[in-house]
Amino acid sequence: MFSLNKLSPTITDMIRFDHSHVMVTFHQYTRDKRPGVKKALAETICDALEIHATLEEEIFYPVMRPRAQDHKVMDKSEPEHDQMRAVIAELRRTDPKSPRHDELVFELMRDVQHHVADEETVLLPEAERSLSKDRLSELGAQMTKRRLELVTPKAGKIAANTAVGFSGSTAAIVVGVASALFAARAFTRKPA
Ligand SMILES: [Fe+2]
Ligand SMILES: [Fe+2]
Repeated sequence: MFSLNKLSPTITDMIRFDHSHVMVTFHQYTRDKRPGVKKALAETICDALEIHATLEEEIFYPVMRPRAQDHKVMDKSEPEHDQMRAVIAELRRTDPKSPRHDELVFELMRDVQHHVADEETVLLPEAERSLSKDRLSELGAQMTKRRLELVTPKAGKIAANTAVGFSGSTAAIVVGVASALFAARAFTRKPA
C-alpha cells in the first residue's frame, strides 16, 4: 500500500543530520566567546542532545536491539546517553563565566564525538543492511512526528538561544544550507 511516510527521509539520514548539526554548534563554542553567547550555545547543544537521545531511545534503539550484530555498541548506547545527561545537568547549573563551563562543554563534545562515531560506523550501517528503505522512511516519519511533540513546548527558547549563539556567525548559514539540502533530498529521493 502506498504511504506518504515512504517519502520521508530515512531515520538513519535524520540521525546523521542531527549529529552534524550538533557538531557544528560545538565548534562554535570557543573560550573567547562572551558568557551570554557561551550559555546560549550550551543550551542549544543540551536541548538538541536531549531530544536526539529521547528519539533514539524511543524509536531507533528498540528496533535495532534484536538485530544488532555488535551487542557491545548496542548495550552501551543508553548508558552513554545517561552519562551525557549527567554532564548536561552539571553544565546547566554552571556559570558560563567560570572555566568549569568550558571544561564541561569540551568534555561533552568528546563524549558525543565518541558515541556518534560508534553509531555512524556500526549501528546506522547495520540498520541500513537489515531494514528496507521503506521501513527506514517509515521510522523517519515516526521520528519527525515525535520530534515535533518534543520540540513544540521548547520552540521559543530554542529559537532564542540559536539566534544568540549563532549571531554574526557563518555557521548559521551553514546550518541553514544543510537544512535546506536535507529538505530538498526528502523530495528528490528516487523511489526504490
Ligand atoms: Fe545515541
Ligand atoms: Fe545519535
